[in-house]
Amino acid sequence: MKRKLLGALLSVAMVASLLAGCGAAAEAPVAEAPAATEEAAPAATEEAAPAATEEAAPAEATGTKVGVAMPTKDLQRWNQDGSNMEEQLKAAGYEVDLQFANNDVQQQVSQIENMINNGCNVLVIASIEGDSLGTVLATAKEKGIPVIAYDRLIMNTDAVSYYATFDNYMVGTKQGEYIKDQLDLDNADGPFNLEVTTGDPGDNNARYFYQGAIDVLQPYIDSGKLVIKSGQLDFDQVATASWSSENAQSRAENIVSSNYADGSNIDAWLCSNDSTAQGVVAALDANYNGNWPIITGQDCDIVSVQNMIAGKQSMSIFKDTRTLAAQVVKMVGQILSGETVDVNDTTTYDNGTGIIPSYLCEPVFADINNYKELLIDSGYYTEADLQ
Ligand code: BGC
Repeated sequence: MKRKLLGALLSVAMVASLLAGCGAAAEAPVAEAPAATEEAAPAATEEAAPAATEEAAPAEATGTKVGVAMPTKDLQRWNQDGSNMEEQLKAAGYEVDLQFANNDVQQQVSQIENMINNGCNVLVIASIEGDSLGTVLATAKEKGIPVIAYDRLIMNTDAVSYYATFDNYMVGTKQGEYIKDQLDLDNADGPFNLEVTTGDPGDNNARYFYQGAIDVLQPYIDSGKLVIKSGQLDFDQVATASWSSENAQSRAENIVSSNYADGSNIDAWLCSNDSTAQGVVAALDANYNGNWPIITGQDCDIVSVQNMIAGKQSMSIFKDTRTLAAQVVKMVGQILSGETVDVNDTTTYDNGTGIIPSYLCEPVFADINNYKELLIDSGYYTEADLQ
């Protein structure tokens, strides 16, 4: 606690220089940060913040408001991210303004404007479109409000101080390796038919997922062991606007009717996440008569885990949103108290204005064999949730 109090007292000078060192909010005065008092620092509770350490609860917490902007309630994961963030920030003593923007960029911009006008001290933002927040975040920067990009990098603005996410390239690598192992591409003769569906072009993550997987699979495509009958492999051809299941489904229906109506099999369908995998499953359920393909996903959404149990989706990637939230709560505390902010990657994520110091959590592979241990034993879901 003493160390934190000392950190708090030093915070004014340090936050300014720290942020300047990160290429963010350089002139940031920290006048907005409320005065530090030792009593104002409740300990982070273990239940609320599994991965949070003592540093998650800085002396500045009381009276400090954190704006949390999430993209949409449509996808299960963002609801979980939002409620984990809210719960853990409140447990650490912060006031929280949590907003969801219905996947509408303009709505997200207005919500962030309101957060700034209502005196938020820190902003945590999972953007809808990485490129669309420059103007509103320029205001945040002017007011000295640090910005943490949550899960998705915010592009082309120097107002972003830090980025916390799962290792997006590794997500794609794990999906690609799953297909490689399941088809035994190094030993089997093939050829195998593959189709690919990725995410929203406005989400910087989508290209990392895509590239991670394609880097594993490309040699087999080049050698002819993997064949893409639709001929669609470029990122723009396989992207899915808004990550929507309906968009993924209609593209998959076209692919099936144009290329597989002759009864030929699809051996694997690389899907970058669960919402797109669910669209592909719906298309195959309706129109496809061949052997069921290997289908990848990401997020361990309840519907996708149920599909995994039913044999319709082969794997997903488990990104424990409790861990990411805990890491971000810790970052908020470290920024406000002027401590060194925990990052573990300072080379990968350039948002167009320079590298954004990042903390990458590790994504974990999930399938029918380990989902109980990962999802139920860890308390993420109950058995009943998955029925
Ligand atoms: C997230 C994924 C999610 C996708 C769609 C990505 O930015 O990293 O976990 O499935 O958005 O919401």
